[in-house]
Amino acid sequence: MRDLLALIVISTWEVIRATFQFFMPKLKKPVTGEVVLITGAAQGIGRELALKYALEGATVVCVDIDQKANLETVRMIGELGKIKGYAYMCDVSDYQNVMDTCKQIEEEVGNVTILVNNAAVLFANRFWEWSKSEIESTINVNLLGNLWMVKAILPSMMKNNYGHIVAMSSMACFVSSPNITPYGATKCAIKGFMDGLRNELAMVNNRKIKVTTVYPYVIETQMAKLCKMKYPSLMPSIKPKRAAEVIVSAQRRDVENLTIPTHYFLIPIVLQFLPIRVSQLWMNYVQVSFQRNN
Ligand SMILES: NC(=O)c1ccc[n+]([C@@H]2O[C@H](COP(=O)([O-])OP(=O)(O)OC[C@H]3O[C@@H](n4cnc5c(N)ncnc54)[C@H](O)[C@@H]3O)[C@@H](O)[C@H]2O)c1
Ligand SMILES: *[C@@H]1O[C@H](CO)[C@@H](O)[C@H](O)[C@H]1NC(C)=O
Ligand SMILES: *[C@@H]1O[C@H](CO)[C@@H](O)[C@H](O)[C@H]1NC(C)=O
Repeated sequence: MRDLLALIVISTWEVIRATFQFFMPKLKKPVTGEVVLITGAAQGIGRELALKYALEGATVVCVDIDQKANLETVRMIGELGKIKGYAYMCDVSDYQNVMDTCKQIEEEVGNVTILVNNAAVLFANRFWEWSKSEIESTINVNLLGNLWMVKAILPSMMKNNYGHIVAMSSMACFVSSPNITPYGATKCAIKGFMDGLRNELAMVNNRKIKVTTVYPYVIETQMAKLCKMKYPSLMPSIKPKRAAEVIVSAQRRDVENLTIPTHYFLIPIVLQFLPIRVSQLWMNYVQVSFQRNN
């Protein structure tokens, strides 16, 4: 009975604190001295994140399967003249490749203190026309790739009781768009994984390892080329540079869930209360759709 009372008091206090923090966000922690590992850093949001972190003075480790473009990202980091970047070629969907690469990174650069799981692939087609290999590579890169990276990096974070794990989910987790259903499924899985990981770390009383999940709407990258909008001015897409700035800022303030644009956090809340038919009608109206790639 006493326990329950204490629980109610603490819960009330935490609700007040969370409400306060919503309006008065935490100060940004500095990233100088941090080792940031970004997967999918060869282009798009990953590259912009690498540049932003380098600009803020972090050591940046760029991981990608596309070594040529990844080296270009590192060259761009060098041009900023602040800090040296590192490029590692790795297929995040390959367990052994991830383990070996992370070991090499630990030896050559140091312990990773911020992991940004950003690499992903996107195919678009009617679900019944998705090939077996497209489905497998979507699950392997977008979901297993995240899990292997965390499995490789988390042990050293646990030992040092310090770190931050960031993952890219998507608004597609809340609004399941036609033609990209396996992709949407992996993005929901990322939400489930990150929410569970956050709770698990809290349960072993490890509150120094932070967990941030990012839910972007359309960002103008190579990946978004498949996306077509009927009214681009109604729900405009976002520049990758801007997205990276928002993500780094949220990570530095220990934000747990971030939608891009920020005010889109209302979308999943509102959708929860609407009949599915209403959201389908709205979806049909705004028509943010994905063109089939074959
Ligand atoms: N662009 C958008 O509109 C949008 C919206 C919501 C979420 N996201 C998410 O943001 C993240 C970044 O997206 P983006 O638009 O910059 O994509 P992008 O396609 O421009 O870049 C993805 C990068 O990941 C790399 N990659 C792919 N498979 C890999 C593998 N097996 N191993 C290592 N690297 C691999 C690619 O080489 C590429 O450099 C993704 O997780 C994506 O799902 C993007
Ligand atoms: C990395 O972390 C491990 C575990 O705490 C520690 O033993 C090691 O010295 C660290 N390496 C560096 C380069 O700080
Ligand atoms: C983040 O989202 C999860 C559910 O997805 C929720 O449990 C958690 O409370 C959210 N955190 C904040 C600060 O809103």
